[in-house]
Amino acid sequence: MSYQDIVKQAKHKQEPMQENRFVKISEREDKSDIPFLAWPPLLNNSYLQTWKGIILNKGVTEIALYPMLFYELQPKTIIEIGALNGGGAIWMADILNMFGIDASIYSVDIDISLVDEKAKADSRVHFLQGDCNKIGEVFSPETLAQFPHPWLIIEDAHVNLVAVVDYFHNNGLKTGDYLIVEDTNKYMWEVWADNWDSQENQEEMEKGPQKMDELRSWLQNHEKEYLIDSYYQDMYGYNGSKNWNSILKKF
Ligand SMILES: C[S@@+](CC[C@H](N)C(=O)[O-])C[C@H]1O[C@@H](n2cnc3c(N)ncnc32)[C@H](O)[C@@H]1O
Repeated sequence: MSYQDIVKQAKHKQEPMQENRFVKISEREDKSDIPFLAWPPLLNNSYLQTWKGIILNKGVTEIALYPMLFYELQPKTIIEIGALNGGGAIWMADILNMFGIDASIYSVDIDISLVDEKAKADSRVHFLQGDCNKIGEVFSPETLAQFPHPWLIIEDAHVNLVAVVDYFHNNGLKTGDYLIVEDTNKYMWEVWADNWDSQENQEEMEKGPQKMDELRSWLQNHEKEYLIDSYYQDMYGYNGSKNWNSILKKF
């Protein structure tokens, strides 16, 4: 096939992917075309991955997928739960700037001292100290009511998952918004358990492997409201991502 054929066929290939694009959780399996053995080399050095010298803790496939989603969604509000070093939020701000998308970005962490000083100095991102066990204290319903749509909510703290997604569901997520729950891939928690000091991160290590199960149970109760966007979810093979069955669009 020539490059000319590739360009011509791209449109025809995209169209079938758009049919049946949005899928209920009951039609999805907790498995991936990326095998377990691929994850150690993809994850072992993940804290060496940086953006402008700041740790960017997004998966390699998300780094390719999220910009496409941003461009399509044109979000006006992004909320990231779990800021770490701030690299993810600054990366999102840069991509949005490049696309000319004017969005407000909020990035929350229980320990805001982890955020790099260069990131904190970037006025495009609002870094907020807050505990996702008390998410209502970070974003009151009144505050959320002021945030313009479309929203993109990215849960990336691995704590109190069901209450967090339920909170945004009950306080403003509306048709057309996206909700992404990171790190629902069961394989990657096995890799992290080998690499991390599991004593220090005990709660995260215990809860992490349950994320997919917890999300699935929650989605079963909201089966028609939140559908998996298989166009992005399966771009690199079935659940070819750190995030299994968790790129969700609200209907
Ligand atoms: C996986 S990292 C986030 C990575 C970041 N989103 C990125 O893309 O670079 C998870 C973060 O969640 C934070 N975290 C842990 N427990 C939390 C809680 N109860 N509330 C808010 N943040 C929490 C941790 O401090 C850590 O910085």
